[in-house]
Amino acid sequence: MRKIGIIGAMDEEVSRLKEMMKNVSVIEKAGMDFYIGQLKEKEVVIVKSGIGKVNAGICTQILIDQYQIEAVINTGVAGSLKNEINIGDIVLSTDTLYHDMDATGFGYKLGVIPRMETSIFQADTILLELAKKVCKEVNKDIQVFCGRVLSGDQFISNQNVKERLIKNFSGYCTEMEGAAIAHTAYLNKIPFLIIRAISDKADSSATMDYGIFEEKAIEHTVNLLLGMIEKL
Ligand code: ADE
Repeated sequence: MRKIGIIGAMDEEVSRLKEMMKNVSVIEKAGMDFYIGQLKEKEVVIVKSGIGKVNAGICTQILIDQYQIEAVINTGVAGSLKNEINIGDIVLSTDTLYHDMDATGFGYKLGVIPRMETSIFQADTILLELAKKVCKEVNKDIQVFCGRVLSGDQFISNQNVKERLIKNFSGYCTEMEGAAIAHTAYLNKIPFLIIRAISDKADSSATMDYGIFEEKAIEHTVNLLLGMIEKL
């Protein structure tokens, strides 16, 4: 792959990677700073999208239109939706969907986007397999899971809401951008992968745990991305 786009929603999620870039130029568009350069000899564009689905979708489309990226990787943190997925562990997306899409009033199932061919966006299997292999090599002290990532414009910090998401969508983790990035990648026919380290359990402890564990969780995604990038 010639050029990879890397999106994180927040500074914390991409600042380490940006620091390690070489031959960097920065171009601003739509309020986002696109860092263009090399990471471990690989051409990359790294950008902080801002939080939520709209920011993430706009950011992905700019990466595709302005920089002709050949794949997009989303890195960041997420809330766990499975007991066995612990804080610090990594979830790699097999697929992703919007948990807050609701057109049930028209008879659609929850999560289904009316009048689209699919509402479940499949991650690229080559990126997924590579990430899984590299993650085991570079993050030996944690577990790596491959499964469904749920996205919505909601920080989930309530046990009842969490249980509803698990029942309705069988997700492994929940966050606020991945499906929008995947949706945009799907419409433009480019491969994508979501890499999320668990910062909290998406229940009543989430807001507190998030602050405590976010930094450590991000270390694992940075290790993984650095390990992956040279093999792409
Ligand atoms: N990102 C990290 N933790 C999250 C949560 N619990 N809900 C949504 N996005 C998150």
